[in-house]
Amino acid sequence: MSFVVAIDGPAAAGKGTISKAVARHFGFAHLDTGLLYRAVGAKTLLGRDAVEAAQALTPEDLEDNDLRTPEVAQAASQVAVIADVRSALVAFQRHFAGRDGGAVLDGRDIGTVICPDADAKLFVTASAERRAERRYLELIEKGHDVTRGQVLEDVVARDTRDRERATAPLIAASDATEIDTSDLSIEQAVAAAVAAVSAKMPG
Ligand code: C5P
Repeated sequence: MSFVVAIDGPAAAGKGTISKAVARHFGFAHLDTGLLYRAVGAKTLLGRDAVEAAQALTPEDLEDNDLRTPEVAQAASQVAVIADVRSALVAFQRHFAGRDGGAVLDGRDIGTVICPDADAKLFVTASAERRAERRYLELIEKGHDVTRGQVLEDVVARDTRDRERATAPLIAASDATEIDTSDLSIEQAVAAAVAAVSAKMPG
């Protein structure tokens, strides 16, 4: 059986946590597509050309432990505006989505561009302040030296770039179920997501 769940939304809205939980609940594979852009962004920080890096990307590149830094996040959102970078990453994502046994992909353009025919689509949002606070606590816990103000600025800058870019901008698919996690606990957000996906399952 193949069943595709597309989960999109802005930075730090809870997509990662929800996607992993949905994948675990249904026994599906999960791809965090942000890692593809982060891996390309990380290579540009080392001086590589973004399009060449995207074309040469391998699954092993996604296992780099240093992809979760704020510097790499900014570099990722800068390479993500380049149409040739995006098109170089399409085949990898669609191949993942087509696997037997079901797949959850999370990102910005999964329900609109990568898998417009996905069986279930979610758009996960939260206020910029809530998202920045969560990302701040995550980064502090990992030992990063950041302030709340810097993290809010970073989140807002990435959102603006993601929403305003010409190719595959961040926007909810017209048939996506929106989940605003601003006032939800993780358990409540996951339950809402699981219910929305279940509603799209046959039988
Ligand atoms: O989701 P994450 O924060 O890891 O993504 C990093 C950046 O990669 C985003 O800010 C966005 O610019 C880009 N991205 C994208 N399309 C995706 C996933 C991520 O443009 N499907």
